[in-house]
Amino acid sequence: MANILVTGGAGYIGSHTCLEILNAGHSVIVLDNLSNSSEEALLRVQELTAKSLTFVEGDIRDASALDQVFAAHQIDAVIHFAGLKAVGESQQIPLTYFDNNIAGSISLVQAMERAEVFHLVFSSSATVYGESNPSPYQENMPLGMPTNNYGYTKLIVEQMLEKLSLADERWSIALLRYFNPIGAHKSGRIGEDPQGIPNNLMPFITQVAVGRREKLSIFGQDYATQDGTCERDYIHVVDLAKAHLLALDHRLKSKGCRAWNIGTGQPISVLQMKNTFEKVNDRKIPFEFVERRFGDLASFYADSTRAQTELGWIAKYSLEDMLVDSWNWQKQNPEGYKK
Ligand code: NAD
Ligand code: WQD
Repeated sequence: MANILVTGGAGYIGSHTCLEILNAGHSVIVLDNLSNSSEEALLRVQELTAKSLTFVEGDIRDASALDQVFAAHQIDAVIHFAGLKAVGESQQIPLTYFDNNIAGSISLVQAMERAEVFHLVFSSSATVYGESNPSPYQENMPLGMPTNNYGYTKLIVEQMLEKLSLADERWSIALLRYFNPIGAHKSGRIGEDPQGIPNNLMPFITQVAVGRREKLSIFGQDYATQDGTCERDYIHVVDLAKAHLLALDHRLKSKGCRAWNIGTGQPISVLQMKNTFEKVNDRKIPFEFVERRFGDLASFYADSTRAQTELGWIAKYSLEDMLVDSWNWQKQNPEGYKK
């Protein structure tokens, strides 16, 4: 049994990962400033697992708050989800993203070093592959320059952690490169609850389905893909959460810094997403084609062979499961976690 600090643990992926960690018999301490989440998610995680966790409301940029957490708990490893992730917003307020995501990550690893905790799993993103790599993306490909400031923060933190592990052999770091997480826990009690107008496709579709949004705008229909709309590698958030447990176990037994792609390897188009959602959930999604969104790539998807062979991880849930579970969460929680 290990004591795991989960930064950003009240968020979408963090809450699903906390549930899996608790069910695996570990203890969980969550540090989250609730800037994009609700404590309700953590209350429900405890309800679902019938286990308790420790929640500390705080910021990863607050060195004293971090030192207090490490002093109060015998932390064995850290899973680092805390960060801002809205691509469009990152173009408007880059300094906020650099401070929160880059300086925040530096603050966290400095506190880890002071506490002599050197096992870390970092939430990275397929965006670090940039624009020119061919799909399926492989971890040993040269990284590119992301098209947005958010993706840039992920690239910088990855490279910083790589250099840190080369300079100090005590570090054991996993870089998990997520593709497109969607879905929710089967119970429908926890799920994705974006603040304001959703940037991402899945929550937009479910908000149309539940009547919060009038119709879906499909950004572009003239891409060089099977049906002209963009293709992405969608991964069930529970499959993604389980990958963190496997990465944690791997890192508790090894040193150095290593990246793993977490995706299904199946490119799915926007139209396929809409049509499959309508079919499996029997809900019509009104839509219109509009112009392309700046920065979107036509198609990218993962080669996750390394995660399969080294972590023993494989995606278990189908696209249909993801779409059913996304809708199950949204229809039970039309306004998300708001009462
Ligand atoms: P989320 O916004 O639901 O969760 C992030 C959590 O971090 C929130 O609870 C927020 O309150 C917290 N947080 C933000 N800044 C903080 C700070 N300075 N101090 C403490 N807490 C802070 O997002 P998510 O979708 O769960 O993503 C989790 C991580 O995975 C993020 O780092 C994100 O960049 C990364 N990621 C997400 C996706 C995706 O499509 N959702 C894809 C790839 C990578
Ligand atoms: C998917 C597809 C859109 C909304 C982003 C970040 C990435 C990662 C995952 C953090 C695209 C289309 C979308 C809509 C649409 N996040 N779309 N109408 O852009 O692949 O990745 O989230 O790490 O870094 O870039 O995901 O869900 O925004 O879009 O047509 O209302 O759906 O054009 O082709 P994306 P997405």
